[in-house]
Amino acid sequence: MKFNTLSSALKGKNNPTSKQRVANAIRTAGIAISFDTGSAPADRARYSPTLIRWSANLVREPRSHSRSRTAWWRKKPELLPLNSVVPGAGFGRQTRCSSELPMSDHKPLARQKAIVTGANSGIGESVAIALGLAGADVVVNYVENEDAANGVVDRIHQAGCKAVAHRADVSAQDQVEDMFERAVREFGTIDILVANAGLQRDCAFAEMSLEKWNKVLEVNLTGQFLCAQAATREFLRRGVVPSVSCAAGKIICMSSVHQEIPWAGHANYATSKGGIKLLMESIAQELAPKRIRVNGIAPGAIRTPINTAAWNTPEALKNLLTLIPYGRIGLPEDVARAAVWLASDESDYVVGTTLFVDGGMTLFPGFATNG
Ligand SMILES: NC(=O)c1ccc[n+]([C@@H]2O[C@H](COP(=O)([O-])OP(=O)(O)OC[C@H]3O[C@@H](n4cnc5c(N)ncnc54)[C@H](O)[C@@H]3O)[C@@H](O)[C@H]2O)c1
Repeated sequence: MKFNTLSSALKGKNNPTSKQRVANAIRTAGIAISFDTGSAPADRARYSPTLIRWSANLVREPRSHSRSRTAWWRKKPELLPLNSVVPGAGFGRQTRCSSELPMSDHKPLARQKAIVTGANSGIGESVAIALGLAGADVVVNYVENEDAANGVVDRIHQAGCKAVAHRADVSAQDQVEDMFERAVREFGTIDILVANAGLQRDCAFAEMSLEKWNKVLEVNLTGQFLCAQAATREFLRRGVVPSVSCAAGKIICMSSVHQEIPWAGHANYATSKGGIKLLMESIAQELAPKRIRVNGIAPGAIRTPINTAAWNTPEALKNLLTLIPYGRIGLPEDVARAAVWLASDESDYVVGTTLFVDGGMTLFPGFATNG
């Protein structure tokens, strides 16, 4: 549903047909909002998700909101986490994840320097922008599509922070080392690593080539090893700077629900994520005494290019939603907000934990009706 269509529906909020349309729109999760018409771009970016969530409230409690007709949804943006999803935008139109993260005076990462790998697409893009909005200077790592990386850099600049795009294959040790050297050269040091880069090479096990196996393990697991090691060396060199952070450094390993859930047809990917779990926990145990915090994030189904086939048709989306108790596909911002928190001192006592951002996917939803 396009922004103006939804607005029109809301304007007629005393009309049961419109209300029903909005209610249906909100119930059927999974398709992002198209911001191509409506109010000024900044307003659309800031308030559109608010509008959507408030419209849900409107449907449930029409009387409580019907009094404030004048831009009522603008008055309560703080009520709205920016993660609502509304059908109808068309599968081909990716919502710009970045535009849904709000500017805020709260800068929990002020004066901190971050590297985000695989930061020109999907979750990494959203994480890099969220770190910038939270006050961090960011190295935007990419391996292909420089233009997309530069777009992320621009967004971080707009937030008032420094950013550079840096091409490096995370599975190549010399390129990882060059990237960290450049980060230290440009920013002085590194405080945060979000080891996010990853890929899939799906295949039935009996057919899986050694190349497919190796590629996934090299990027997803060895890439995290190399980046985490380079970050650790810099954290140990510099130590704690209390005016910047309680910790000497923070490492966030992007894992997956498939560190827990076996995944037929994806043995290489699930193995890599299972490996990330124990890599993360082992180095968290080893490095905690040095005041380096290592944690993981395990996303469930997040709407990004890596898993397009899982959400880009109504049938696929319907099947996917049977696995998600919360009833909607995740958005990159859902993960980005978790990453900002884990990178900040607000999570200072959180060490060696995997934070599942999965709408309940790991709750064995198949047993919800008694198995
Ligand atoms: N989307 C999901 O549902 C989901 C769920 C669980 C975990 N994850 C994990 O989140 C991470 C990000 O995935 P995404 O969903 O944003 O997919 P994506 O394809 O949009 O992003 C992956 C990024 O990694 C980069 N990359 C791939 N190989 C690289 C290499 N050798 N060096 C540097 N960068 C490289 C890609 O260029 C891209 O920028 C991955 O680790 C993925 O396994 C995603």
